[in-house]
Formats: sequence, structure tokens, C-alpha cells
Amino acid sequence: MARSLTTYVVYVAVLLGTCRTLSGVSGQAVPGVDSRLQSGKFPLFPYANCMKDGGVYGLAPSVSDLGGGKYCFTIVVDDQSCTGPCCSSDLYKIELNVANSCLVSGASVSATLNGVPLVRPSPSFDAPGDGPSGSTIIRIPGIALNKTTAQGAELCITLKTNKAGQGCTNLGQLCSSSTGSCTGACSAAFFDTTCKCCPVSQTTGNCAPPPPSKPSANCKGLVCFTAELVPPVFDIRPYRFDAAVCDRATGALITELEKTELGTQTLSSFLSLEPSARCSETLYSICANFTTDYKESFVENITTALEAAASEMLPLLLSEFAGDSCKPELDGYLVTARTFSDKCVTFEDYKSITCFAANGRPPCLCNSTQGILPYVVSARYYAQRGSRLDTTEYCFNISKLPQDMVIPSNCAGINSINKLEFYANRDLRTSIRGFTLYPATGGIVRISDIWGNQYSNTLKATNVNWTAAQADGGRICAVLQNPVTMMDVCLGSPGDKCLVAIYNGNRDCCPTFATGFAP
Ligand SMILES: *[C@@H]1O[C@H](CO)[C@@H](O)[C@H](O)[C@H]1NC(C)=O
Ligand SMILES: *[C@@H]1O[C@H](CO)[C@@H](O)[C@H](O)[C@H]1NC(C)=O
Ligand SMILES: *[C@@H]1O[C@H](CO)[C@@H](O)[C@H](O)[C@H]1NC(C)=O
Ligand SMILES: *[C@@H]1O[C@H](CO)[C@@H](O)[C@H](O)[C@H]1NC(C)=O
Ligand SMILES: *[C@@H]1O[C@H](CO)[C@@H](O)[C@H](O)[C@H]1NC(C)=O
Ligand SMILES: *[C@@H]1O[C@H](CO)[C@@H](O)[C@H](O)[C@H]1NC(C)=O
Repeated sequence: MARSLTTYVVYVAVLLGTCRTLSGVSGQAVPGVDSRLQSGKFPLFPYANCMKDGGVYGLAPSVSDLGGGKYCFTIVVDDQSCTGPCCSSDLYKIELNVANSCLVSGASVSATLNGVPLVRPSPSFDAPGDGPSGSTIIRIPGIALNKTTAQGAELCITLKTNKAGQGCTNLGQLCSSSTGSCTGACSAAFFDTTCKCCPVSQTTGNCAPPPPSKPSANCKGLVCFTAELVPPVFDIRPYRFDAAVCDRATGALITELEKTELGTQTLSSFLSLEPSARCSETLYSICANFTTDYKESFVENITTALEAAASEMLPLLLSEFAGDSCKPELDGYLVTARTFSDKCVTFEDYKSITCFAANGRPPCLCNSTQGILPYVVSARYYAQRGSRLDTTEYCFNISKLPQDMVIPSNCAGINSINKLEFYANRDLRTSIRGFTLYPATGGIVRISDIWGNQYSNTLKATNVNWTAAQADGGRICAVLQNPVTMMDVCLGSPGDKCLVAIYNGNRDCCPTFATGFAP
């Protein structure tokens, strides 16, 4: 890859002999770029042999955030104070100095100029060959503006992560250099067609002062408690808040407010909580007013109390909404809890949930990344009566992912399921009475259980041979001799979780899911 890329650039350079040769390879980050040598010949941005001084182009200090990873810059032209040979240059290419962590295979950037998409050449991430190791840029070629047309032109970029959710999605991550108290300040270089001129300009970034460590003593009005659910980019087992979860949290919050002391009273005597919370699929919020009992002289105590309350409330909200240990529905999710008041500071805490890290257990030589096969094991498994009185079946629902949610991979034979593997306690193997397969279409099949070698703690349902149609809505049930339960058998930590791997026809891929018992 690296080699063919280099060849390409040299070839075109000879052919055209202009700055255009540096145009991007595509909108994608260059894969395998780590192995490319960066000479470090030009240690400072824009990492090229060009004139940084004297130029007319720049960026307006502020950047608009349009959401969804889209940011718009305004190009400004300052002709007045320019001296030197670059004053009459045109504008062919803009480069942004960006964080190395954004250079992820499959992550991409696209751009528009005055609303028109820039394609052929399109923008790209790159590791500049003459920059120091780790230096990273976004190239935006094909701008084709001059001093007249550039004034006020709007350049928008849209950042996209790869399918696994890796890459940068906001300016804070992209332009990671901070100046003073500002974060997300981007440096841009403006190249002319000959690449001789490259004046550099910088945006201000986000200069909101960091939240004061000590709350100011003037809390009045509303105090709110929120919990927010942030699904992973690749949301293969969608989970959302529902009324039951929200109601339980409200109850727990009321109890906590009653318990949290404020002087001789409790926080709840100063706060009148609204009768019901707002509960959407991803956001829970409930607010309270300070009661009429509230006296000016107590302000300081209340802010202090709020801080104390936050230290009680945030863990409570997190445990209500995220669970104490890995909640399988939330695998890959982030839950953020906040306490804030109108004029007070915001207290924030979050929990990111990972039930299974790819290529951990069960032990296998296959790729266990979720989403590389179009099959998913439900977040919960359940029990049903076995065909014999002294047995119970523990069933794992399988569903199929829509094609556009399947991560591109080298997995072969993805149109069938060959086997399921459970990370399970081998000492209990005599209590397993095989599996009952309930395909979505076709008859029920019973197969025997197979165990991995004595060191592997692997329980297998092999030669399942399901087509995608049989798998979508099908279930695979382990038959257990009572009173041993699947919770006893599974070694998925923590607690009652089972780790279940689904293998494709070729057995080279085995996306693995944590699933918990639904009583
Ligand atoms: C800039 O480009 C426009 C449109 O291509 C053209 O009409 C104008 O003369 C150019 N101005 C300068 C200063 O080159
Ligand atoms: C508020 O704080 C002051 C000084 O810290 C203290 O004397 C007073 O008792 C507190 N009032 C309450 C209601 O806690
Ligand atoms: C707080 O008080 C205002 C003004 O009295 C009222 O409109 C609002 O509904 C109250 N909010 C809560 C959460 O009680
Ligand atoms: C499993 O699938 C059955 C239908 O096949 C459904 O009734 C049940 O709710 C599902 N259970 C879980 C935990 O997904
Ligand atoms: C598994 O497959 C994914 C998607 O193709 C890939 O990004 C990842 O690097 C693979 N993991 C391993 C350990 O090969
Ligand atoms: C799956 O296919 C294999 C090989 O063709 C066969 O031996 C096995 O019995 C099949 N399994 C089921 C459950 O039909």
C-alpha cells in the first residue's frame, strides 16, 4: 500500500509538475500509514518547503458547528497588510494540522466549498512525508479561488468515523493543540497552485473557561438531574431508556435527596422536585426548584450541599441507568450523569460499558469483533421447560443485522452459522444434555454438546448449519440437567453473564456477545 501510494505520487508529480500532485488518494484515512516514513525535514506545520510569511488568505476566528461532525470555516482575505511575493497568489489547497489519533483506517473527511462538494480531488487525511513522526494533516485540494472569490467563502468539513466508531468526530479531537484556555483551535495553511506560498492562520477554538472548581455562591432557581445514553456508532443491539427504568430512577433519586443532609435538614426540604421526570429514549431529566423556605443566608450551604449532592446523585444515576456491573444491553454504550443548577456549576460523571473486549475469551484464533458477521445474540437469555421433566432449556435468541450494519471483513462464508461456543465451566459438563435448535424456518433439531480440551472451558454447539433465514429469529437452547443452571455453567464475568461466540461457515470469524439471564 505505502509503496504503491508513493509510486502514484511520484508519477503524477513528474507528469504535472504542480502542487496538484499532492491531492488526496480518496476521502479516507490512509491505511497502514504508521509504516510510512516521516522524515521530519520540516518539523513545523505545514511541514513543507514553502513561504509562511506574507499572504492574504486566512480563516475567520470562529467556526460554526452544524452537528453530525460538520464544521464550517469562513475564508477571509486581507490584502491591506500584505508584503512580498505571495500577495498575489491564488488559493488552490488548504491543509489543516490535525491530531494523529484521527488518522484511522476507514475514518474519512469530506468537504464542501460554498455548498458544493469537493470531489476529484477530494479531501483526505495524510501523514506528511516531510513532517516529524506522528504529524498529521487533512488536505483539501481543488479549492480554485482567488483574492476576489475567496473573500467570505464558506469551507465546510464533515468528519466520519470508521464502522467500528474509531476516528475523530469533533473539532476538540481534531484540532487538539490548545492555545491558552482554548481548545479545538485549528491551524490551516493556504497553498497556491505552485505550492510556494503557505501562509498559516488559526481559529480561536472553544475558549469557554473551564468550570470553576468552586461553585459560585448564588444558586437560585432550577436544579436539574440528568442521565444521558450515548449509543455506540455501531449500534448493533439497540437499547433505549423506557418508562420503567426512568420511574425507578426517580424513586431512587427522591430517596437519595431525603437522605442527603443539609445542616439540620435534608436536601429534599430545600428542593421541590417536579412531579414527574422527562424520559426520552436517550435522555432522562428531572428538575427541582428551591423551596420558599430557601433563605439568602443559606446560599453558601446550598451550593456546598449541591456539590455534596452531586457526589451522591451522580453515582446513583449511573448505577440506575448503567447498572453496577456490565449490563449486556449496554455493551459499548456510554452513560453520562449530570447535576446542574441555573447559576451554579455542572457536575458530571460518566460510565462507559464494555462487557466483552474483542479477542479476549472464549479462547479462539478467530476474529471476535461484533458486527463482522450479520448475526447477533440477544442481550438476554431465558429458561423454558425441557422436553424431559428433569431438564431446563436455556435459550439464546439469534437475529440478523441489516446488511449496511455489517462491518467489512475478511470473514468467509458469512451466509451461514456453523457453530456457537460458550465460555463455560467444564467441571459441569455432565449436567449438559445437548442443545435444541429452533430455527426460524424448518424443524427442531437436537444435537449433542461438545467440549473443548480440558484446559479450554469451551462448550460448543457444532454443525448447527443454519442459513441466514433460519438464524434470523431462531434460538439455540442449551439443555441442562436440573438443578444446575446456565448461571452456574457460564464463566462470563461478571456475575450471571454468558459469553457466546457465533461462528460462520468458515469458522474464521466469531463475533462474541455478553448475554445475561432474564428471570
Ligand atoms: C477571480 O476569479 C474570477 C472568477 O473566475 C474572475 O472573474 C476574476 O477576474 C478573478 N480575480 C482575480 C483578481 O484574479
Ligand atoms: C450555613 O453555613 C454557616 C457557616 O458555615 C452555618 O453557620 C449555618 O449553620 C449553615 N446553615 C445551614 C442551614 O446549614
Ligand atoms: C419552578 O418555579 C417556576 C416559577 O414558580 C415554575 O414555573 C416551575 O414550573 C417550577 N419548576 C419546578 C421543576 O418545580
Ligand atoms: C426471544 O424470541 C422470542 C420469539 O422467538 C421472543 O418471544 C422473546 O421475547 C425473545 N427473548 C429475548 C430475551 O430476546
Ligand atoms: C477483526 O476484523 C475487523 C473488521 O474487519 C478488523 O478491523 C480487526 O482488525 C480484526 N481483528 C483482528 C484481531 O484481526
Ligand atoms: C450439518 O452438516 C454436517 C455436514 O454436512 C452434518 O454432518 C450435520 O449432521 C449437520 N447438522 C445438522 C444439525 O443438521
